[in-house]
Amino acid sequence: MSKMAKLELDGKVYELPIVEGSEGEKAIDLTRCVELGGTKPGDLRAKTGCITLDPSLGNTGSCSSNITFIDGERGILRYRGIPIEELAEKSRFIEAAYLLIFGKLPTSLETHMFSQMLENHELLHEDMKFHFQGFPPYSHPMAILSSMINATGCFYHDKIEHYNPDTFKDLAAMLLSQVRTIAAFSYRKSRGLPIIYPDPKYKYTANFLHMMFSLPYKEYEMRPEVVSALDTIFLLHADHEQNCSTSTVRTVASSQASLFASAAAGVCALWGPLHGGANQAVIEMLSDIHRSGDDGTRFIEDAKKKDSGKRLMGFGHRIYKNYDPRAKIIKAKCDEILNSMKRSDPLLDIAKKLEEAALQDPYFVERRLYPNVDFYSGIIMRAIGIPVEMFTVIFAIGRTPGWIANFKELAEDKTTRINRPRQVYIGQTLSPYTPKQDRT
Ligand code: SDX
Repeated sequence: MSKMAKLELDGKVYELPIVEGSEGEKAIDLTRCVELGGTKPGDLRAKTGCITLDPSLGNTGSCSSNITFIDGERGILRYRGIPIEELAEKSRFIEAAYLLIFGKLPTSLETHMFSQMLENHELLHEDMKFHFQGFPPYSHPMAILSSMINATGCFYHDKIEHYNPDTFKDLAAMLLSQVRTIAAFSYRKSRGLPIIYPDPKYKYTANFLHMMFSLPYKEYEMRPEVVSALDTIFLLHADHEQNCSTSTVRTVASSQASLFASAAAGVCALWGPLHGGANQAVIEMLSDIHRSGDDGTRFIEDAKKKDSGKRLMGFGHRIYKNYDPRAKIIKAKCDEILNSMKRSDPLLDIAKKLEEAALQDPYFVERRLYPNVDFYSGIIMRAIGIPVEMFTVIFAIGRTPGWIANFKELAEDKTTRINRPRQVYIGQTLSPYTPKQDRT
């Protein structure tokens, strides 16, 4: 007998089933509401005339999913049940991407086949170059990335238009491979540099570094520790359940738009400074603090004042009310990569001081604000030489497997319907049209 929630409304009592997830999360199922003693369950609104109101959807489950599990209270993150700490230590980005999209770690043969698909799609259609030329110099790479993902779709319209389970693996490889090539080309375009074509001798992440930093006659010096650090960054960003950009991908996909159109929308949602744009905002914040000669003490005080217009970027999270497990891994990687390069970064020292101060400050402690994935990631990207305007693009490349996995899960769910939330109207009630001469 499933547990039921009771709702009393306008003198009537209704029952709604409590749904429990595999990790014990509970939800009230609004689609199976039944009046006490009744037999035919239905949508809450149809049965009661009432809807729920949850403006930023912080209390609303938009779907059931098998892909990623987060326990924000305990700082737990798992991809298909495997802890992020284990994947960061033992796996690679493309293997984790395969796990997220297809629900299992790939065998050696599956790894080889998928790697071959990625290689087959690493080049963009040659005519895409003309689109790059159309962007003004110093266009933000996220604007280019979103536009070019959709533009790519125009060249392979027949392939991408409708979800086809038989060809989806190849389509997933195409998006995953081309998002990386588009990103590198966007960077080269923004700096007035000649584009560098992908080189099949390199695997995914190394090829990205090659396309970003090689010159026509001077190949980028591929350092294993740099490739590993960036690969880990990609892996740690690969999925994060129903975050803003993934929810956007699901909403667009629910109208049966293509994978490419859905991913292009996801890029736009990710761009915001409260979401994926935070990694760029963190470095800009740390640089400002460094330039001002502050050690972070003054900034922390400002970040607590509502009217200061300042926030401790890279801190706080809607779900994590504990340390973001990804931030812990990235923080350790910062020290590793800087030590291996025999370098230091004053911004890392400031970041560590800010963290130390915030974790002892009642304002942050009471609100359970901890470092999130964006707080330290920029330090690694700086050490690698990735320009700050590309930080969110790096996040987008990393998040592409999660978008693909959620798109696939939604497309294969026979109960999927188009997302169409309701609202509570609080505007003007019935009013007559006012002729122009009578308007004030
Ligand atoms: C990502 O959803 C995901 O999973 C996202 C992500 C992913 O992998 O997809 O994890 C990636 O987006 C990480 C978050 C990156 N954004 C930032 O680092 C920007 C800075 N953080 C905040 O803006 C904020 O913490 C959010 C946006 C992350 C979360 O916002 P919420 O859940 O809406 O929280 P809130 O704004 O309602 O804040 C609650 C309180 C408020 O104070 P009071 O009104 O209670 O007095 O905490 C305060 C806020 O003012 N607060 C902060 C703060 N974050 C929240 N105060 C100062 N500095 C901060 N960073």
